Amino acid sequence: MSTQFPPNMSEKTITNKTVPKKETKLITIDGPAGAGKSSVAKQLAAQIGFYYLDTGALYRTVALLGLKNQVDWNDPAALVSLTQKNLIDYRAGRVYLNQEDVSEQIRSSEITFLTQYSSKNPAIRLLMNDLQRKIATTDHFVTEGRDQGSVVFPDAFRKFYLTASPEERARRRFKEQQQRGENVDYQQILIDINERDYRDSHRDVAPLIQPKGAIIIDSDGKSLDEVVELMKRHIEMPD
Ligand code: DC
Repeated sequence: MSTQFPPNMSEKTITNKTVPKKETKLITIDGPAGAGKSSVAKQLAAQIGFYYLDTGALYRTVALLGLKNQVDWNDPAALVSLTQKNLIDYRAGRVYLNQEDVSEQIRSSEITFLTQYSSKNPAIRLLMNDLQRKIATTDHFVTEGRDQGSVVFPDAFRKFYLTASPEERARRRFKEQQQRGENVDYQQILIDINERDYRDSHRDVAPLIQPKGAIIIDSDGKSLDEVVELMKRHIEMPD
């Protein structure tokens, strides 16, 4: 895999010649699917002037790469080799595959399903960890995923574990999909969420866990603004 580093993030005029900052601050947010990590991470990053890194988007892009190349999903080495030969790049909240912005394509339910093959592959995880660490040397970041505080950035400035009950997460997803005009079934969404939780927390490599030292926030019954305010209070607290 080749990548462009440091990433060229337009609104803060980081260029390919930007030298990594000596002291970059990192805030990690981990948690299960549908807990609201993306919305919270984006809003928090915007309010405190940090960049936002969606690490799930990187695993989704590897799955898209496999799909486009009709990879044999039972051959983990083939997916690794493809990943090494192609360019995955993340700039200003958008993800690129060989310079093509695939930020929307990676949100399909087919890719959501296929991402299990990239995320359970240990060699792909090493490549993605490396990519994430390189991105994070360029500026202050709020990163979001499943292993950010546990594996990739255990020494982050603040680590959060954002959770919510499966029913609450299914209700949110149901509402989102309904608003997009999709034909949705609440019970099926709940089944999918429970299955994904099981897969994410029982896989052999980097399973979803509450990272050591993480601040746990349950977003049940809390609005996006309330969760972000709560995090900001923790961030401002003295160590
Ligand atoms: O957050 P998301 O739904 O876009 O993540 C897609 C998948 O990638 C999900 O099944 C979990 C996995 N993932 C991971 O294993 N490690 C990460 N750091 C981020 C996501």
